[in-house]
Amino acid sequence: MPTPQSAIPNPQLIRRPRRLRRTDSLRRMARETRLTVDDLVAPLFVIKGEGVREAIGSMPGQHRLSVDELVKEAETLHALGIPAVALFPKIADDLKDTAAREGLNPDGLFPRAVRALKREVPEMLVITDVALDPYSSDGHDGLVRDGRIANDETLAVLSEMAVVQAAAGADVIAPSDMMDGRVAAIRTALDAAGFTDVAILSYTAKYASSFYGPFRDALDSAPRVRADVPPDKKSYQMDPANAREALRELELDLEEGADLVMVKPALAYLDVIYRVREASDVPVAAYHVSGEYAMIQAAARNGWLDERAAATEALTAIRRAGADVILTYFARQMAEWLREG
Ligand code: PBG
Repeated sequence: MPTPQSAIPNPQLIRRPRRLRRTDSLRRMARETRLTVDDLVAPLFVIKGEGVREAIGSMPGQHRLSVDELVKEAETLHALGIPAVALFPKIADDLKDTAAREGLNPDGLFPRAVRALKREVPEMLVITDVALDPYSSDGHDGLVRDGRIANDETLAVLSEMAVVQAAAGADVIAPSDMMDGRVAAIRTALDAAGFTDVAILSYTAKYASSFYGPFRDALDSAPRVRADVPPDKKSYQMDPANAREALRELELDLEEGADLVMVKPALAYLDVIYRVREASDVPVAAYHVSGEYAMIQAAARNGWLDERAAATEALTAIRRAGADVILTYFARQMAEWLREG
């Protein structure tokens, strides 16, 4: 029994929200949002070689992994209860060209990584990235023609890439390129190739964000600084000033057959996550991106904030805004923290 706080309580004060904040048990009972390991997807970077575990400078705690190391990492994540990984390839420079041909090579690094994962850790869902930038010598998600991104021509490449990934065993295809019409094009291509059960997680509202910096370092995938190539991705990724436009993208993606939709980045776009959640009947994912991760890591490493508390608050806020699924570089660490309790 709580002891009375004061001999002379204020009789006017009937409603006291603090009652439910008094103890940890009460707070647990009253908690509206829960973060569980089921919500987490771990993005992983794959690189050629064997026994390679290369630290990424701008993303402390994250590595580029060769296929064998990737499999080990996936086993650890699976043992922690994480249901899915999202894969991104680091392609050697000499394999990049303007047509992003290596992205269509069924024996390339990426399909090999997918096959190894599905063979060794079959229960782990594998989400694969569809976009040209890891394979493009121009560093763009689409084909560059006369200094512009050629939308419709790119769709054919994206569709073929999706089929190659599905054939390697991908469970979910995640187009991150932001070309118009790509969900429909990919769906049609997957179905024609017999992959009717492979799902599409569309990067529905992907913003032209400064928070992707560390990721582009990790993959060396930034737009190239050359006169014949657009200097940034603003002609296809969304303007950070726009929220209604995200609903327009949502409408199109749902019409085109997206099974899950995503907002990216997450923390600076919680209003967009909220609106997309309200307007859609499919699961909503949010990508807590590399720069969001790096900011917390940098501050924590300086002793300016507590890593666990900050990461937990950030991911809980993303769930509270309405995300059902969170792609985050904190996935493994968070799963370990959740296990510790
Ligand atoms: C590119 C892609 C990017 C990310 C995922 N896919 C970067 C970009 O658009 O330049 C960013 C992820 C992150 O920052 O964590 N197709």
